[in-house]
Amino acid sequence: MADYLIAPSILAADFARLGEEIESVLDAGADVIHFDVMDNHYVPNLTIGPMVCSALRHYGVTAPIDVHLMVNPVDDLIKMFADAGATYITFHPEASVHVDRSVQLIKDLGCRPGLVLNPFSSVDAVKWAMDCIDILLVMSVNPGYGGQKFIPRTYEKLRQAKALIDESGRDIRLEVDGGINLENIGSVAHAGADMFVAGSAIFGAADYTDVINQMRKELLSVTN
Ligand code: DX5
Ligand code: ZN
Repeated sequence: MADYLIAPSILAADFARLGEEIESVLDAGADVIHFDVMDNHYVPNLTIGPMVCSALRHYGVTAPIDVHLMVNPVDDLIKMFADAGATYITFHPEASVHVDRSVQLIKDLGCRPGLVLNPFSSVDAVKWAMDCIDILLVMSVNPGYGGQKFIPRTYEKLRQAKALIDESGRDIRLEVDGGINLENIGSVAHAGADMFVAGSAIFGAADYTDVINQMRKELLSVTN
């Protein structure tokens, strides 16, 4: 079976109890914490910044933190999030004038870089980056809000992205973000995804362990 990572998006957590929420979701079996950064400029919403990431590290969170930058520009925040303890840093290529430089900056700062494809962005947009990135994140909703409906065209995009990753021969994660739930996690895995962001499906559940176990059960039955 493929090695799958479940990454709850803290956008759907109770921000007033963020440290506890993250502890609970990690105890429940989550692999990675997905940290959505929105600037009310690249996307029409405003969330959390590097101080919150740093506070979580001081609180004792040692799990990987997957920082998803939905900001423009990106370079200053890349530096701040690297200082704040980010593990992965992904950004949207159209938000950086020099995408290669921003990717190199993430690597030079000791973090793992990734690029993000919006629903209308073609897989070709990242073709020349495959030697340098560790994650390719395919958005299955328009970035900006949690709780949106999964866009079905994403399946074909995931298949194309997976082919590009296989062709590269590199160990690149194929992450999917937006509207992931118990009904579709198996089919997005079948299409090639191996890292699953889920906000409302996890934090909206009464029992985090139960929903993560059910997700793993769905993933167990996937054959590629
Ligand atoms: C959307 C964010 C997602 C979002 C996922 O812009 O990047 O990470 O929080 O939330 P759900 O799983 O509720 O769609
Ligand atoms: Zn995200």
